Amino acid sequence: MSLILEDDRLELSWVQKLCLKVIRYGPIPKHVAFIMDGNRRFAAKKHVQRIEGHSKGFDKLAETLKWCQDLGVEEVTVYAFSAENFKRSKEEVDSLMELARQKFAKILEEKDQLEAHGVRVRIVGELNMLSLDLRQMAAKIQNMTKSHNKCRLNICVAYISRLEMTEATREIAWGVQMGFLLPSDVSQNLISQTLQIPAVDLLIRTSGEVRLSDFLLWQSTFSYLSFLKALWPEFSIWDFYGAILLYQNAYSHIKTASVQADASSTCQDLNGIQISKDASLQVQRINYFLEKLREKREIVNSNLSMEESVNC
Ligand code: FPP
Repeated sequence: MSLILEDDRLELSWVQKLCLKVIRYGPIPKHVAFIMDGNRRFAAKKHVQRIEGHSKGFDKLAETLKWCQDLGVEEVTVYAFSAENFKRSKEEVDSLMELARQKFAKILEEKDQLEAHGVRVRIVGELNMLSLDLRQMAAKIQNMTKSHNKCRLNICVAYISRLEMTEATREIAWGVQMGFLLPSDVSQNLISQTLQIPAVDLLIRTSGEVRLSDFLLWQSTFSYLSFLKALWPEFSIWDFYGAILLYQNAYSHIKTASVQADASSTCQDLNGIQISKDASLQVQRINYFLEKLREKREIVNSNLSMEESVNC
């Protein structure tokens, strides 16, 4: 199954279209994240192989992306594979990597659809834990879609939040070492801007587990968290619309809390900066650092995608 679904099978029923219209009157989360949990339990329930459960999980992801797109969600982040998942049996890890290989290859074939829909795809995580061919495919996907600007899909692979935060800290230390930043420039805002994934509005986890499993810990500070009973391959449009309605219900409360926190962190960030000239120099330094960091990340990605391909 493709990642970008364009066929009629996903045409909404009239009731679903009506619900979509009603929901669109309320605030729509800009960024939605999913912990796609329950694939193996689904496989056990249906008496099929585990990998079949994961494969159904990918199909559900494609369907979910279509629902998000219909609603006008601008960014989706999914937890495809945690760095902790490498501790599973070799057989399961190998088959999951093979599934990722097939799906990445399919995404690379879908260049035109991704361009037509303006979807930028990023693969985020400790990619060094992946085989070279998978890393090269990931780099090619990112390169191929880097100029697309209608919506963004972040696929977290070999990811855990603590590693993402550690990497951001290392990158800031690099910025200080290179003289782009002063130690006093380090702030909550700078850390947020250095992380690969931005703040999340709504985070949905399926399968009845009520925990974050080291996913987007920093970015979910002001997220509405929705823990659903359905196993990921069973996740339905009604589960999705239900989560959006609860988000809309909580919206003003969450917004107030996040605006207050932003105001207080800006005050803390500016603490010690005596005059506005210093503040504007700081903004210049931070923008320069972020630009240099973007270039640095791009060079790594371009080199990888241009290296002699292995298996792809
Ligand atoms: C969690 O369910 C799911 C995973 C570890 C893998 C999720 C992967 C996909 C949906 C495929 C996506 C692939 C790409 C390339 C985007 P689980 O295995 O922990 O199931 P359980 O909770 O029932 O044990």
